[in-house]
Amino acid sequence: MAVQTVATSGSPTVDLGPAAALSCRECGHRVPLGPVFACEECFGPLEIAYDFSAYDTEELRKRIEDGPANIWRYAPLLPVPADVADKPNINPGWTKLVKADNLARELGVTGGLYVKDDSGNPTHSFKDRVVAQALEAARAFGFTTLSCSSTGNLAGAVGAAAARAGLRSCVFIPHDLEQGKVVMAAVYGGELVGIEGNYDDVNRFCSELIGDPAGEGWGFVNVNLRPYYAEGSKTLAYEICEQLGWRLPDQIVVPIASGSQLTKIDKGLQELIGLGLVEDKPYKIFGAQAEGCSPVSTAFKAGHDVVRPQKPNTIAKSLAIGNPADGPYVLDIARRTGGAVEDVTDEQVVAAIKLLARTEGIFAETAGGVTVGVTRKLIESGALDPAKTTVVLNTGDGLKTLDAVAGTGLTATIRPTLDSFREAGLA
Ligand SMILES: Cc1ncc(COP(=O)(O)O)c(C=O)c1O
Ligand SMILES: [Zn+2]
Repeated sequence: MAVQTVATSGSPTVDLGPAAALSCRECGHRVPLGPVFACEECFGPLEIAYDFSAYDTEELRKRIEDGPANIWRYAPLLPVPADVADKPNINPGWTKLVKADNLARELGVTGGLYVKDDSGNPTHSFKDRVVAQALEAARAFGFTTLSCSSTGNLAGAVGAAAARAGLRSCVFIPHDLEQGKVVMAAVYGGELVGIEGNYDDVNRFCSELIGDPAGEGWGFVNVNLRPYYAEGSKTLAYEICEQLGWRLPDQIVVPIASGSQLTKIDKGLQELIGLGLVEDKPYKIFGAQAEGCSPVSTAFKAGHDVVRPQKPNTIAKSLAIGNPADGPYVLDIARRTGGAVEDVTDEQVVAAIKLLARTEGIFAETAGGVTVGVTRKLIESGALDPAKTTVVLNTGDGLKTLDAVAGTGLTATIRPTLDSFREAGLA
């Protein structure tokens, strides 16, 4: 592999593997790799541009297949140094792709239904994938504190990654999150700050902190390190295709909060096609939201190109971003691929969590209830073709959102006797 090093202006050379530069998603303006996220020309979002030109397809495939059973098997396609697997990181990924035949029967899917179960990551959500990238960027740029604005899962992932890397962490969350997420974020020993407000208030506060001397030396994984962080979601696309035997699925259902994950799954699929690792054929990407925070699905259904912000009110708190940064890009991708963006009510989210648990033994957090619920709705409406290979993402663990299924519990309480067991009608 040709490892490239690119000098950032005024800082020593950084080695982030095949990452060649930052490129504006709006105007294409390129700048050297650095902790910046907005284009100096048009304020558009910056993303990583790569140089993959030296890769031979079959050599790359072998290298990936011989790699570690985590996201670093894809290091040649990520903004990380070549020796990333030897550094202290949380090493997420290579989670199960479960062939969900029982769920398929319930939903009437005949073309093959899979659940990509990212609850199996170190802090039990897909956020470990993105944080693992941001940590490498933070190291490369010399940050000493790792931070973020979070709807819950990200806070835990940052806390764990910082602990492992020996960095300080200080993360910001809305003050009223689920207990499971608060504990999960606090247990790693970093600082956890509740902000009186919703996620969008937290995010605004973090943007102010970055511009202030108080935030000096801080790497905010989803703000000033966002271009690096976001690339972690590509690994979901890589893994799904590799686990399908280097095949593209026909349809993927992805949850949307900021929309970053969905846009990077599309980027990852495009890269695999471009590199010749999978056959070039059409695929459809579907976005899933909760009705109580559905700015993107509302815009999709109305045929709008812009996303009007909403005030979130849903049990799917991890997806409760009312002003999603990547909303317009999600609309583009859903329309370009022939997919859709749909939403479900909180009641449908709970029913879908229980359906997935009952059929496949997978206990999803509310975000997983959103994707499974939306999958059901899209099949019923005919937008999703049940005869095609479909992958549904479960991005988090149900143990973090126990309140959503409150009331699920004991079937009976009995005395420790067979008579009592029989009386309860359980024999
Ligand atoms: C469990 C879970 N799934 C999905 C998402 C959506 O991520 P994105 O902001 O990339 O759309 C989040 C974001 O917080 C999340 O916590
Ligand atoms: Zn620009």
